[in-house]
Amino acid sequence: MQDQRFSELRLAGIGRTFGAQAALRDLSLTIRGGEFIALLGPSGCGKSTALNCLAGLLPLTTGSIWLDDRRIDGLPPERRGFGMVFQNYALFPHMTVRDNIAFGLKMRKVPKSELLRRVDDVMRLVRLEDHAGKLPPQLSGGQQQRVAIARAIVYEPPVVLMDEPLSNLDAQLRLAMRTEIRRLHQTLHLTTIYVTHDQVEALSMADRLVVLREGIVQQVGTPDEVYGDPANRYVAGFMGYRNMLELDVARVTGTEAVVTGQGVRFTGRAFGQLETTRAVAAIRPEDIVVEAAGPNQVQVIAEVVEYHGHEMLVEARLPGGDPLFFRTEKRLAPGDATTVSVPTDRVLVYPADTPAALVEEVA
Ligand SMILES: Nc1ncnc2c1ncn2[C@@H]1O[C@H](COP(=O)(O)OP(=O)(O)O)[C@@H](O)[C@H]1O
Ligand SMILES: [Mg+2]
Repeated sequence: MQDQRFSELRLAGIGRTFGAQAALRDLSLTIRGGEFIALLGPSGCGKSTALNCLAGLLPLTTGSIWLDDRRIDGLPPERRGFGMVFQNYALFPHMTVRDNIAFGLKMRKVPKSELLRRVDDVMRLVRLEDHAGKLPPQLSGGQQQRVAIARAIVYEPPVVLMDEPLSNLDAQLRLAMRTEIRRLHQTLHLTTIYVTHDQVEALSMADRLVVLREGIVQQVGTPDEVYGDPANRYVAGFMGYRNMLELDVARVTGTEAVVTGQGVRFTGRAFGQLETTRAVAAIRPEDIVVEAAGPNQVQVIAEVVEYHGHEMLVEARLPGGDPLFFRTEKRLAPGDATTVSVPTDRVLVYPADTPAALVEEVA
């Protein structure tokens, strides 16, 4: 997978504390040349801290950072030379689009003819060629963010760092820019680390995801791995497994677990150390099948039905009274009884108690 034309970035146990608080703990990861990595987690989990440590804006408390064979964590930001894109664009308001983009090349004393060629190329790439002479305040939010991206990639930095670059844009523009950034990456293959709290964004853009919680890595994997096989119930919750049924463990046989309670008996896949008697069965609303014979059947009563275009999101009651959320194209009304089933490989059974490492007092 390593593309020799691009830099590999290796993080060896990096950590950062603020006073008594560990904002980032022991992150080890090798980011391959040309890879697009998403750092994903809720607000406050340490994403920006990690990114700022990579950029050189924050010193590390522990660990080291390597760019190919060179240790770089002692270098100031300008000597790392990473491209950076922030939420708030951070453009020079008094400089034209062209001058904003050319700035990094001027600082690097790139010859005039090459500078002009590169700026033209990148302006075309981010579709700003018609706005070259405008000032940032004359541009829309999406256009400003395209200038910021152009400025970050124009000198082909070894690594591009992006911190929630789309979060100031409205929903429609966010979708368009997501595709745009993905297209840029497919064209240029720059090693990219992209911070977001939006799992859909991370899943749709990244080659691999790093899921963080309270400064601690929960899972590193491809979108398929993190979406299909969340490492723990926390990652599952973040990945849209909205049903988290607290049930009793009846049996665990290898990777198969049987859980009961709430009037159900579900067979699913066992994750983690399931020696406890209580478990959480995590199920995505879209994995539940309505009115069809199948495994893990249960009769439920629809309670709230939300219109979501071609399907409905239904909140129903299990026989035991707990809610069960599912999506269906069937037209159900509140009060309707229906039978649902769930494929056994789409019932993920996790220990009910939070792993000790996650509740441990932050030192
Ligand atoms: N400069 C700072 N001084 C003190 N605490 C900080 C500082 N920067 C971040 N933190 C704390 O570190 C934790 C992680 O913050 P941050 O990396 O900004 O999270 P995220 O980007 O995931 O929202 C938070 O609890 C935050 O309050
Ligand atoms: Mg942040």
